[in-house]
Amino acid sequence: MFKNIVKGTGFTSVDPKNIRILENTLFCISETGSIAKIIQPNEKDYEELSESYSAADKLVELKKGQYILPGFVDLHVHAPQWAQTGTALDLPLYEWLNTYTFPLEAKFSDLEFAEKVYSDLVSQLLRNGTTTALYFATVHRKASYRLAEICSEKGQRGLVGKVVMDDKEQNPEFYRDDTAESAIAETELFIKEVQALNKHTPQGVYPVVTPRFIPSCTDESLRGLGALAKKYDVHIQSHCSESDWAHEFVKERFGKNDAFALNEFGLLSEKAVMAHCGFLSDQDMRLFSETGTAVAHCPISNAYFGNAVTPIAKLLNDYQVQVGLGSDVSGGFSPSLFDNVRQAVISSRMLEDGVDNNCCSEKRGVKNSSITLNEAFYLATAGGGNSLSMPIGKLEVGFAWDIQIIDTKNLPIFSEEESLADLFQKILYLSRPENIKEVWVQGKKVHENTLGLGVYKENVR
Ligand code: GUN
Ligand code: FE
Repeated sequence: MFKNIVKGTGFTSVDPKNIRILENTLFCISETGSIAKIIQPNEKDYEELSESYSAADKLVELKKGQYILPGFVDLHVHAPQWAQTGTALDLPLYEWLNTYTFPLEAKFSDLEFAEKVYSDLVSQLLRNGTTTALYFATVHRKASYRLAEICSEKGQRGLVGKVVMDDKEQNPEFYRDDTAESAIAETELFIKEVQALNKHTPQGVYPVVTPRFIPSCTDESLRGLGALAKKYDVHIQSHCSESDWAHEFVKERFGKNDAFALNEFGLLSEKAVMAHCGFLSDQDMRLFSETGTAVAHCPISNAYFGNAVTPIAKLLNDYQVQVGLGSDVSGGFSPSLFDNVRQAVISSRMLEDGVDNNCCSEKRGVKNSSITLNEAFYLATAGGGNSLSMPIGKLEVGFAWDIQIIDTKNLPIFSEEESLADLFQKILYLSRPENIKEVWVQGKKVHENTLGLGVYKENVR
């Protein structure tokens, strides 16, 4: 009846503020890799199913000290930039793009180089617990398609965009689309190719319409891309209101903020995900909410390039905007959403308290800005799934079995009485890639840490 059953304790968001702890639970996985049934120890089939699936060698039982988390959904990754991750972050955005990033991305016309970088990145993201990623590739259609194939082969759910940047004034000659027309034609071909690949990819690969950001695109390409997104009903991604420079550039060009300009080109939708969004006005937030557009919050990157902390609590609580988390490799130096969960909490607390010690405490920060660890966890999991309009990021019937198994053996747990709620917080604050024992996508194991933890003590719970 089920492909297999996994028995263990898991943690999942039920909404942004609350988590549910599923203790010693049976997760029944369907043939297609989704959660078909969740059975608690006090329910009637529990013993019988445990025994029969165990006898048929179809029961996966977690060991003491191991816990299930939903796989992470990274809403913003620049795949080619993996090759420069951890460098040049002392520069402001504009200089970083022109001196480091565009020359690097130009090298992805070379398929062999693309293969090397993309292949390593997808493996690294999987071992960091990222089961779904929304990628910017480069302007090159063939290399972008190779990234989609690598996701398909390695078992990651990938959403991939061929980047469009066609404005001759704003982009260097060595790295841009030839014309708006060719950018749109290449994007359309890319959409068809990836949709064909998706037919043979159980976990799914999807094409994404990807204007890099307004400053890099002509009106013509922006309009054409909006039309393509509508024609094929595909996802859309871009950068929105990131940094004083990018935000001001758009205001000067259009006399309005990114959000309204993007909307006029047909680039805000239920399937649109906009990165950063540090300078959204209240009206912009309302427009995001009305159009179902999601925000990819990239807290590490924003500390370098953002010039402001994105007000996540306000987006969630006042405007019910869909929000998820992005690593923004390589504007963010870490491929781990664990690191970004931590930074999301830290940045929000600094926004709430303020940072200028010359300013009196009442005026120093922005009230009601901090988010909890539960909320940051929600962003990395269920919020990401919600942003993509996909049934991923929760341990819930009907959701994909996209999970990570965390081994807590080397975490500071010294009491058998420690509550699972406390243990959950230790997992989020202290896990490192080596704590991720296994990663599964769509019911299939796609990563196993065979190197272990190099560990010293036994688990007490
Ligand atoms: N704005 C336009 N391109 C980029 C990019 O590659 N990274 C970031 N962080 N912002 C951008
Ligand atoms: Fe980015």
